[in-house]
Amino acid sequence: MRHLISPLDFSVGELDKLLDLANHIEQNPEKYAHACDGKKIATLFYEPSTRTRLSFEAAMLNLGGNVLGFSSADSSSASKGESVADTIRVVSCYADIAAIRHPKEGAALVASMSSSIPVINAGDGGHQHPTQTLTDLLTIRSLKGRLNNLTIGLCGDLKFGRTVHSLIEALVRYDNVKFVLISPEELRVPSYIREDVLKKNNKEYLEVERLEDALPSLDLLYMTRVQRERFFNEEDYVRMKDFYILDKSKLSLAKPDMYILHPLPRVNEIDVEVDSDPRAAYFKQAQYGVYVRMALILTLLEVDV
Ligand code: NCD
Repeated sequence: MRHLISPLDFSVGELDKLLDLANHIEQNPEKYAHACDGKKIATLFYEPSTRTRLSFEAAMLNLGGNVLGFSSADSSSASKGESVADTIRVVSCYADIAAIRHPKEGAALVASMSSSIPVINAGDGGHQHPTQTLTDLLTIRSLKGRLNNLTIGLCGDLKFGRTVHSLIEALVRYDNVKFVLISPEELRVPSYIREDVLKKNNKEYLEVERLEDALPSLDLLYMTRVQRERFFNEEDYVRMKDFYILDKSKLSLAKPDMYILHPLPRVNEIDVEVDSDPRAAYFKQAQYGVYVRMALILTLLEVDV
């Protein structure tokens, strides 16, 4: 039995197969409409979510399966003091696969150790978000036609943004990918990403503060919101929250084929006037999230279509 806890749980070859399957699903959805008849996914969400939870549920429904779960810690027995380990043991009796989001780093890993069904990490605190990374990789590969030979700018809250951490871990495995890390000093990537991921893999990276300085060189720009819920005090958040605002005038510095990605939700970091630019790919990205989660469910449940 396999789980997806970190983006490195799949080899590059396995990822290629998964992304191929997602593209095949996109082209032939009707072929997969009954692939998971009678199967159930449990979505165990101890933290807010719109896209991740609903795209998992849509994915299972598109495959003919069913969904059950909870969307906040308050409405689960966590509020009575139940451990994640106990919850997943019980959920293993009710469902065939589970996606879990939790505010604590490592919670999905802990759940997987007590689970008798595949566990998918749908976000663990400020740590990792591997299914957003699958979504991002599918989006990049579909729009740019490749995952190598790219200069990618990651902008915003690189300290607490788990989507950024997972995406960097995944992309260092491809050739000639260069990273431009755009953040205020206080929100730089954690040192383990710099030392154990970027340096260890001999990846070229630059850390800059001004988005304008980075924009002209980028093939992709990955914007993120400042992660309010992970700040220790509100004042720091208020000081940081509008540090970056991508608008039409800044975008004029970018290449004509530089796609803009964002895991969403957006707050102020991308002005709505950018939405109509053909390079704005963040809503398309959300659609890709459904196909890739369908592919992931089929892969972890070992369903052949
Ligand atoms: C992200 C998350 O939850 O980490 N959202 C998502 O799953 N698409 C990004 C965010 O909340 O900023």
